Amino acid sequence: MSITILAIESSCDDTSAAVLRDGEVLSNCVANQEAHSVYGGVVPEVASRAHQINIVPVVELALQKAGVNKRELDAVAFTRGPGLIGSLLVGTAFAKAYALSLGIPLVEANHMQAHVLAHFAEPPKPSFPFLCLTVSGGHTQLVLVHSHLDMEVIGHSLDDAAGEAFDKTGKLLGLDYPAGPLIDRLAQKGKPVFDFPEPQIPGLDFSFSGLKTAILYFLRQEKANNPDFIGENLTDICASVQNRIVSILLKKLALAADQAGVREVAIAGGVSANSALRAGLEQLGKEKGWNTYIPRFEYCTDNAGMIAVAGYYKYLEGAFASQDVEPLARWKF
Ligand code: KG4
Ligand code: ZN
Repeated sequence: MSITILAIESSCDDTSAAVLRDGEVLSNCVANQEAHSVYGGVVPEVASRAHQINIVPVVELALQKAGVNKRELDAVAFTRGPGLIGSLLVGTAFAKAYALSLGIPLVEANHMQAHVLAHFAEPPKPSFPFLCLTVSGGHTQLVLVHSHLDMEVIGHSLDDAAGEAFDKTGKLLGLDYPAGPLIDRLAQKGKPVFDFPEPQIPGLDFSFSGLKTAILYFLRQEKANNPDFIGENLTDICASVQNRIVSILLKKLALAADQAGVREVAIAGGVSANSALRAGLEQLGKEKGWNTYIPRFEYCTDNAGMIAVAGYYKYLEGAFASQDVEPLARWKF
């Protein structure tokens, strides 16, 4: 029996819809919201309003690109959380109404689990158990993945997420939001000549707030000596910050892989689009004898393709959501 799923993702500032058939993603469309860059971060109400405008055209585009008629759908999967509540409400309400009108089941997905499951959108797919470092704008997690739906968070950030460390550094440097991709690009032209401190957090947890403060004080001091310090050293500052964030992430990843005794190692989430993290994981994987898995860019940042994959595995288990399901701003798995 063939299974066709429409998936909706609206947890933050990207409105996305995807269509999956029998485990294969047929379309994965994203409407980005440019409006937030001028504010230096995502403004929740602006995001909710933009989702409201984008959701119908994005869903129509996803169906059209997949060559699927809505009458062929077997279920609607949606992001229940975690995320911005207003943004989640738009996707949840849309998914409920769409499923109800077509008389098909609803399937809820956890956004952070779905980032991990992006690895099953296309080959090469990791084998179980594997370790996944999920690094996004809101979360930094080390996840031990036992099966598609059985995952264990064995380490997480105690304060800022890795993506936040990029974005907040960008703000200090006067860069637009989100700064992660900009810092990545600028860093490629610079050298990591400035040494930022490494947080001393025991075990598998992370901390990035100290790094942010260290960068703030460093820039304040340097600017007192030379008001043009940032302009004259931007690429080197970016390379140095990126180098430190990546070294913190890879050190904990190596520790977790050793402790868990796994050699299948993956990265996921928006920050996994970072070129230094991707190159660093490949290098470390060679040294350690790991099989490493890095998603294509479209499956790193927020996308409904990953929600469709999560929905597919839930559908196979018959794990459906009820029509009175509510979105969850916080949702641990
Ligand atoms: O997973 P994602 O798209 O959304 C959340 O679930 O948060 O992640 C967004 C985060 C932002 O902090 C953004 O700056 C970061 O991913 N990001 C990057 C890169 N591309 C996106 N960070 C560093 N380097 C990149 N190339
Ligand atoms: Zn995300």
